[in-house]
Amino acid sequence: TGGIITLDSGYKNTGSCESAITFLDGEKGILRYRGYSIEELAEKADFLEVAFLLIFGELPTQAQRDKFHADIKAQSVVDEDIKKILDAFPKSGHPMGVLSSLTSALTAFNPSSVNVNSEEDMYRAIVKIMGKFPVLVAWTHRKKQGLPLDYGDKNLGYVENVLKMMFRQPNEEYTQSRVLVDALDKLLILHADHEQNCSTSTVRITGSSHAGLFASLSAGISALWGPLHGGANQAVLEMLEAIKADGGDTKKYMAKAKDKDDPFRLMGFGHRVYKNFDPRARIIKKAADEVLEDLGVEDPILDIAKGLEKEALQDPYFVDRKLYPNVDFYSGIIYRAMGIPTDMFTVMFALGRLPGWIAQWREMRLGKEPIGRPRQLYVGATQRSFVEIDKR
Ligand code: SDX
Repeated sequence: TGGIITLDSGYKNTGSCESAITFLDGEKGILRYRGYSIEELAEKADFLEVAFLLIFGELPTQAQRDKFHADIKAQSVVDEDIKKILDAFPKSGHPMGVLSSLTSALTAFNPSSVNVNSEEDMYRAIVKIMGKFPVLVAWTHRKKQGLPLDYGDKNLGYVENVLKMMFRQPNEEYTQSRVLVDALDKLLILHADHEQNCSTSTVRITGSSHAGLFASLSAGISALWGPLHGGANQAVLEMLEAIKADGGDTKKYMAKAKDKDDPFRLMGFGHRVYKNFDPRARIIKKAADEVLEDLGVEDPILDIAKGLEKEALQDPYFVDRKLYPNVDFYSGIIYRAMGIPTDMFTVMFALGRLPGWIAQWREMRLGKEPIGRPRQLYVGATQRSFVEIDKR
């Protein structure tokens, strides 16, 4: 429209949409899903309830929860031909790349999921991906481990079934897996949505062109992969392992993080919105202690993480920049205690964020939002005439 264009790289001060799903207060460290505090939901709800809440706006009645789960189970079969795509990947392929590809490939086997012109069409696409995504997550893991693929068990709960397909639990050692189920359920709740973060903005803008839900989610998975975003949970463990291998010398890594000439950052620290403790980090830190104790796991990495946190919270560089531990700082310690490989940590983040991405995509489509198309400030060459190649 030829109006004034303000440059805001990284969209640090740009509101991209109106949303009724998640509320953040970065100064106070507040996070609420549809008005319910993350602390209450992590304590009292389960992941399927929270998924329903985020997507449809209300906590489900028992009947609504049962129907949602039944509809999801009915859609948890993945076309056998997906395995041909899975088999084409080298074992060295990063699981996030595999998952993003398989998620997009689902469109080929479910073409009706693209043209969603009614809430019924949307609901069908939503229960399809809620049913098939955990299978893709588990198959990605088992393929990398060279293990036979597992089809899950319809008699299990949503999160129990993820663990069974990944680790063939909880059929074995039920008590141990009760701890794992509760820990994973809580972690998935804590990752379920976070307003207009990088990957959610990617899902919304991809979906705004009316690309299908699965294609929009595949784009979100790719955005989440980056080490500055969801990939940070893997980078945190690699950093803590490096510090452990370096004799626990946290001071050396703190110095690197503060050195402007060193690209190294303290992974798991800092946040675009939270200028206080990330409320999820508080809950996960407490859960890490509980899970390791319940599993009888002694992990020196947890002590290194706590030492690093203590130092950073007293260091002027971090205090002045309001850099606190974020959701990714402690989550990997729990995943590791559960036997999940480091390069699968971000896949677990994607599994948690799935209902949030779905909710945000649904809100954008129901709101009939226009296609996302930002402008720019042009700083390139002024007009010039073409020069034949023999005169350049
Ligand atoms: C997630 O957006 C979301 O909600 C994301 C998320 C979600 O649920 O979807 O919460 C999940 O992605 C959590 C963040 C995971 N990423 C990391 O842990 C990677 C390490 N952290 C950063 O790279 C950084 O803090 C970001 C990316 C999280 C935020 O970056 P910003 O807001 O663009 O801030 P910035 O890069 O401009 O940093 C401001 C200052 C800079 O110093 P100065 O130039 O002012 O001197 O703080 C410094 C930065 O150098 N800084 C860090 C640091 N993070 C910021 N210095 C050392 N270590 C760090 N981790």
